[in-house]
Amino acid sequence: MTSGVSTRTGGRPGSPPALFILSVATLAASLVLFTALVTGAACGSGGGGDPFTAISVGTATATPSPDAPTATSTATPSPTAAPTTPAGRAETPAPNGEDTSPRVACTLLAPVDQTRRVARDCTLGGGGLTAETAAAFERMRAEAAKEGLTLVIISGYRGFDSQKQIYDGDVAAFGPNQNVSAKPGHSEHQLGTTVDINEIAESFGETAEGKWLAKNSVKFGFVMSYPPGREAQTGYAYEPWHFRYIGPDTAAAYQTSGTTLNRFLAGR
Ligand code: DAL
Ligand code: ZN
Repeated sequence: MTSGVSTRTGGRPGSPPALFILSVATLAASLVLFTALVTGAACGSGGGGDPFTAISVGTATATPSPDAPTATSTATPSPTAAPTTPAGRAETPAPNGEDTSPRVACTLLAPVDQTRRVARDCTLGGGGLTAETAAAFERMRAEAAKEGLTLVIISGYRGFDSQKQIYDGDVAAFGPNQNVSAKPGHSEHQLGTTVDINEIAESFGETAEGKWLAKNSVKFGFVMSYPPGREAQTGYAYEPWHFRYIGPDTAAAYQTSGTTLNRFLAGR
């Protein structure tokens, strides 16, 4: 089996040359979010009307887009550079297209990943980020600001329909085994506890903000769900911008666990 991958800004060792890729879904979502930012209106997808949570403090430095590669490229995903779908993505869809993967309870610590999903209507924040997540982000943002760093949420809650648009766009662009966006029902963003911060690029991990987040987010209850070098366990490419709130105590326990978040949560 092969697996599609998008190369991203910065690249990884052993990856093809760093190239920018723009998925159809990202372009659409960027345009929609840009409109929202300009108008101040809640951003909704064509299908679901799911608002991206707008907790923007300071000046946004990044192209607002949900998880997916950014910018343009003519490159096609490498069939060899990415891990296969080790987290166990279902290879053979049910004849009726139904998602037959196990469904887990809609909770803060739901082990949602390529193999496990939440119900279509699952959300913990009523169609936005949970109050706890938003408050924790604000504390983290304020602490980073003391060091002259700017943290801006560019994508927060994404409902099932919004995620479907992104997923379908990435499948169209990169193939069914792409490892940059989750199937609808399988995204941590649907919980309302997950944020994409500043920019969707691997190079974000090398910025002052990216390094600060990697070092400090746990104190505020956020963890990087898809760290570098763990694609075989998470099923997704490195996402230095994607942080999920699980609470400070659980985040601390996870940090010392030595495993990946999806496996840590599934093993609880
Ligand atoms: N980019 C992550 C995997 C998501 O789509 O939720
Ligand atoms: Zn994300």
